[in-house]
Amino acid sequence: MKYNFDQTPDHRHNGSYRWDLPGTPDDMIGMGTADLDFACPPCVAEALLPIAQENCYNYRQRPEEYFDAIIGWYQRNYGLAVKKEWLSTVPSTIGAVRMALGIWTKPGDAVICQTPLFAPIDRAVAGADCRLIDNPMIIVDGHYEIDFADFEAKIAAHRPKLYLMVNPHNPTGRVYTPAELEKLVEICDKYGVKIVSDEVHGLILYGENRHTPILAVNETAKKISVQIVSLSKGYNIMSLPHAIVTIADEQMQKEWMRQITAFSFGYATNSFAIAAVTAILKGGADDWMKELTGYLKNNLDETLSFIRAHKLPLVPFVPEGGFLLWLDCREAGIGQTELDKFFLEKAHIHLDDGEENFGPEGKGFVRINYAVTNSVLKEALERIRAAFDK
Ligand SMILES: Cc1ncc(COP(=O)(O)O)c(C=O)c1O
Repeated sequence: MKYNFDQTPDHRHNGSYRWDLPGTPDDMIGMGTADLDFACPPCVAEALLPIAQENCYNYRQRPEEYFDAIIGWYQRNYGLAVKKEWLSTVPSTIGAVRMALGIWTKPGDAVICQTPLFAPIDRAVAGADCRLIDNPMIIVDGHYEIDFADFEAKIAAHRPKLYLMVNPHNPTGRVYTPAELEKLVEICDKYGVKIVSDEVHGLILYGENRHTPILAVNETAKKISVQIVSLSKGYNIMSLPHAIVTIADEQMQKEWMRQITAFSFGYATNSFAIAAVTAILKGGADDWMKELTGYLKNNLDETLSFIRAHKLPLVPFVPEGGFLLWLDCREAGIGQTELDKFFLEKAHIHLDDGEENFGPEGKGFVRINYAVTNSVLKEALERIRAAFDK
């Protein structure tokens, strides 16, 4: 291994949302918020250090190298030919979702999403005074599936303006297949629904699973979709806020750019984020990502084996990508409310309660972030076993 994922910065005292939590025990293990414990790929420091040394942060244009890196990355990884005029840069994924709501809905309009749903998207919908129509995922043979019949029936009944898609899906870890995406696109096109696709979890993929960006699905998808990608989840650059919005349709581009211009994001470019993203997309972290994926897969496999070997009363939904494990705790006999309290009080592990963070379909579930060192993971699993033994 070229990179050492067994060592990480000390996140207990660096303001980490996951580890540095007031009111938690000193030995608390942070397994909530979706970021990685690991240092970023070296190409990020190499790109950022000269900027810090120059120590000058005046208004900066996005260099051609940045656009070339994005275009090259889409072509290399997805065979998707993206044009420069399709691209814009915003400070965050959820910010982009909220902006899309501002452009293509008005208060009172319906918006459809698969549930369980990442709470900030729910809040973005509420902030736009729209009505959320839920399309609950269904569990078939221990695997989450999209309920297409419900999706179409709800669209026909409520006539939503937008479908806010999260693919790969958080929290279930599903990576939608091209066939699923084609079906979703077909239904949306039939009823005149635009698609806003949040693809932040598309970078870490296991086995044969492949992420398909919405614009790579087919020509119809290109006419109705907004694709939002951020490198934050894969490369741990959450505090270099940055997301890339890609729109192929000319009319939708115009509507989007009118909004972007109104926010003046063109001036508010962050030199660090642009440099980091350029370095990564040029391929500077490809080998790092490969090793990281292997490390995370090992953590995941170890967790699943541990649950099986010790017959823990937890039902895992094996993620196809990402680093988040969705666990059904409904048979554990600890009640369906305040599950997070059980793990915090009995095991000193902080994780995300399903209902609090993903709505009613998350009731009785928790989401565990296993992007920790393997030794921390082992300690956490032992603590969970001991908590259930008691
Ligand atoms: C589905 C999804 N979208 C967006 C985000 C946050 O992205 P950003 O920080 O770019 O808004 C997260 C973070 O966990 C997420 O899970």
